[in-house]
Amino acid sequence: MSNDPGANREKFNELVRKNEEAMLGGGAKRIEQQHAKGKLTARERLQLLLDEGSFEEMGKFVMHRSRDFGLDKEHYLGDGVVTGYGTIHGRLVYVFSQDFTVFGGSLSETHAEKIVKIMDLAMKNGAPVIGLNDSGGARIQEGVVSLGGYADIFYRNVLSSGVVPQISAIMGPCAGGAVYSPAMTDFIFMVENTSFMFVTGPNVVKTVTHENVTAEELGGASTHSTKSGVTHFACANEAECINQIKTLFSYIPQNCEEEAPRLPYTAGVEKRPALNSIVPENPNQPYDMRDVINGIVDEGTFFEVHKNFAENIVVGFARLAGRSIGIVGNQPAALAGVLDIDSSVKGARFVRFCDSFNIPLLVLEDVPGFLPGTDQEWNGIIVNGAKLLYAFSEATVPRVTVITRKAYGGAYDVMNSKHIGADLNYAWPTAEIAVMGAKGAAEIIFRKEISEASDPEAKLNEKVDDYTKKFANPYRAAHRGYIDEVIFPDQTREKLIRAFHMLENKVAALPKKKHGNIPL
Ligand code: HXC
Repeated sequence: MSNDPGANREKFNELVRKNEEAMLGGGAKRIEQQHAKGKLTARERLQLLLDEGSFEEMGKFVMHRSRDFGLDKEHYLGDGVVTGYGTIHGRLVYVFSQDFTVFGGSLSETHAEKIVKIMDLAMKNGAPVIGLNDSGGARIQEGVVSLGGYADIFYRNVLSSGVVPQISAIMGPCAGGAVYSPAMTDFIFMVENTSFMFVTGPNVVKTVTHENVTAEELGGASTHSTKSGVTHFACANEAECINQIKTLFSYIPQNCEEEAPRLPYTAGVEKRPALNSIVPENPNQPYDMRDVINGIVDEGTFFEVHKNFAENIVVGFARLAGRSIGIVGNQPAALAGVLDIDSSVKGARFVRFCDSFNIPLLVLEDVPGFLPGTDQEWNGIIVNGAKLLYAFSEATVPRVTVITRKAYGGAYDVMNSKHIGADLNYAWPTAEIAVMGAKGAAEIIFRKEISEASDPEAKLNEKVDDYTKKFANPYRAAHRGYIDEVIFPDQTREKLIRAFHMLENKVAALPKKKHGNIPL
């Protein structure tokens, strides 16, 4: 270089320009192709995700080291993934964004190294990782080094689990073993019609099982948000997806030692009379638990997770007096709010996330029990239901339950009862806390008396009435102290604000162990 600073600057600019050009990856034509599919490029996505001007790119001059199959003649700066750090609403986050315009976003040894580098930094510095996935999987030309690269990422996904939040957005293909990295992160977002996830694609499926299925049917956003539960969010387009990620981000902390950000809050009139008229008089009539949630939390703050999967349980984040909480509610409007395999697993995973990241838990309970049937038994409702029981029992964050109506059978125990470590249990006057519904109970314990009565039906009704009077209320449980207070619905918000404030400095630890053995 010359000694003239101006000339050096010019040369430097020229170098940068050349590099930037090369960094267009597959080039302008491929970017057009990406747009034509309704997809943004890796950099456009990061621009939407991160605060303006906050992105610091790392490794933009990295190139692959392959020699085989003509790759020695084809190099692109960055090697198909844009990595670095930036901020969302001023908070640090590490990001990677795969660039489909370069070798289909496929993962080479160097591409993997770039992702690993930011994952390691995220762990050391205690900040979340967001991965925007758009990739044809392992770079086929590289063979085993690419598989090794995936495994390096998987390993870090596991080590980071419970240390820093990990969020995955699937914005294109994600197939084969590649699906296991997102699967081990905390939340998955998918985009309708432009993304898919599967272990084996439609062609292999056809060969092996003779099923004809499209990629969208097999592993599209709506499949995974409703049938498999693999994705937590299905978004209409990429912009919506990125906005949703940012909203989620606002409810979660940077790492397992911090709390989620709080919004300023000024106490006001906390009575909510609308809550008094949500539970119908007829105990068999459904209502929407979301109305209860929205009536309790700070207005408009409920952010539902896994909305379309296992709808008999509702989970999500909200703010109560400005503070982030996690909510698990049985949903009487779907399957009467019964617990089954899917809802137990959905609930358990959410509880474990909240517990890992210091987010207090509120449970709203109206549950008639576990779903009977061969389908449930043969598919393992025993071990799957146990996951929810295990997750609640293990959680050390502040935990409060409000029983709005039914709390029957084992489900009473499971849904964050005091017996398994909840800090406070409240019940509305409409609560029914019993081993089972009154009719079923009367039919079993008075079977002989009923069958021998001159009018069995009248006898049954009499016994049902008896049982209802004794148990279909919250007072038996309250006499024992299992319920701390019977409260009117309109008081709920105020009681909960005070309860979570009281529990703010809770310290609880599990017995010393390597780790527990959740029934997987
Ligand atoms: C190298 C790849 C690639 C890959 C795509 N490309 N996938 N290059 N390795 N895995 C290249 C293509 O050759 C093409 O380059 C460009 O990316 C765009 O791909 P297209 O096929 O034109 O795009 P599209 O029609 O949108 O189809 C996308 C696709 C398809 C569905 C992802 O490309 C595909 O099926 N790819 C292979 C997927 C796969 O089998 N991956 C390995 C899975 S096994 P040119 O230059 O021709 O335009 C795996 C194991 C991981 O991932 C194990 C971890 C444990």
